[in-house]
Amino acid sequence: MKKIIISTGGGDAPGLNAVIYAVVHTCYRKGWEVYGSKNGYGGFIDIDDMVRLTIRDVEGIYSTGGTILGSTNKGNPFAKPVENLAGEVQIVDVSDKILKNFHRMGFDCHIAIGGDGSLDIAHRFAQKGMPVIGVPKTIDNDLEETDRTFGFDTAVSTATEALDKLHSTAKSHNRVMVVEVMGRDSGWIALYSGISGGADVILIPEIPFDMEAVCEKIADNELHEKHYSIVVVAEGAITKEGQNFNKGMGELGRTEVILGGVGEWVASEIRKRTEKDTRSLVLGHLQRGGSPTTFDRLLALRFGAAAVRMAEEKVFGHMVALKNSVMVPVLITDAIKKRKKVTLDNDKIATARDIGICLGDKDTAVL
Ligand code: F6P
Repeated sequence: MKKIIISTGGGDAPGLNAVIYAVVHTCYRKGWEVYGSKNGYGGFIDIDDMVRLTIRDVEGIYSTGGTILGSTNKGNPFAKPVENLAGEVQIVDVSDKILKNFHRMGFDCHIAIGGDGSLDIAHRFAQKGMPVIGVPKTIDNDLEETDRTFGFDTAVSTATEALDKLHSTAKSHNRVMVVEVMGRDSGWIALYSGISGGADVILIPEIPFDMEAVCEKIADNELHEKHYSIVVVAEGAITKEGQNFNKGMGELGRTEVILGGVGEWVASEIRKRTEKDTRSLVLGHLQRGGSPTTFDRLLALRFGAAAVRMAEEKVFGHMVALKNSVMVPVLITDAIKKRKKVTLDNDKIATARDIGICLGDKDTAVL
């Protein structure tokens, strides 16, 4: 009999509940007990935030968005903002307390579902001796060592559907529509949705963009009697002059800046330089919401079941990964070393260029 605890940390992603479902069902068939920690590491600190998960509790959740456990991106236990009696906020390390509670409550394994931030925390616990198994989650698809993270396919589908809708209104008004999508410092969502959604221009962080090239493509469209254009911009895109766009650190306890603003900036530059009627919109958290696609559901269920198999084999300190269509264990340290970027020799980059999409640099987009 084993006792497993699951946590979901960082920004949510469609498929989190499917992982929980698979872990609970796989453990049930082995006669193991499963608990969930609410809001990241909440349950490790406060017993009220710890929930027993039975197959009744997870009935039907594999198809739902969000996480039944809640999540947070301000919950780093190694640097947790805590208010003292005088109302002052202090940053404290509660990791020892968490480790002590983990052992005291008799857990055998912690399944940490997260992106690079949450898996970095999980890795630090593994170094302290906690038996940890990671599951790769993020709509950004920016984790190394796995071909895919769950949540990405759903985010791309949402963004592509939005682009499909924007085509008709852009065409009716002969407008340029600039759409800002998520992805942090990686351009995966922008590239996949932009190609699939018929964008004229796709700007990704991996290729610093030149506004002149962007406007040339729009002018070229005009020349070819196409009086509207669709521009997809990744939130982390930067200009060739090195300008980036963010809204600061946001709430206390966050470890990363809130990205945003590049879409509006690109739109205003296009308006100024081409005099075309231009509008911008930010897809934002729509990309994180809703039911997981079939691909993400299946991937998340596979990750969850594989994580339990790894727990049985005591493959701790590892993350379950998808490599060449199979589930394999990889070291968490390797997965979080750096963020997975779009490589420029990627065939999707070649495809975009081949079909005439401008990637913000001087290339073959304009004949
Ligand atoms: O990492 C996932 C992600 O959705 C990013 O794409 C985005 O920049 C960030 O999280 C937004 O975080 P928050 O929910 O804190 O605004």
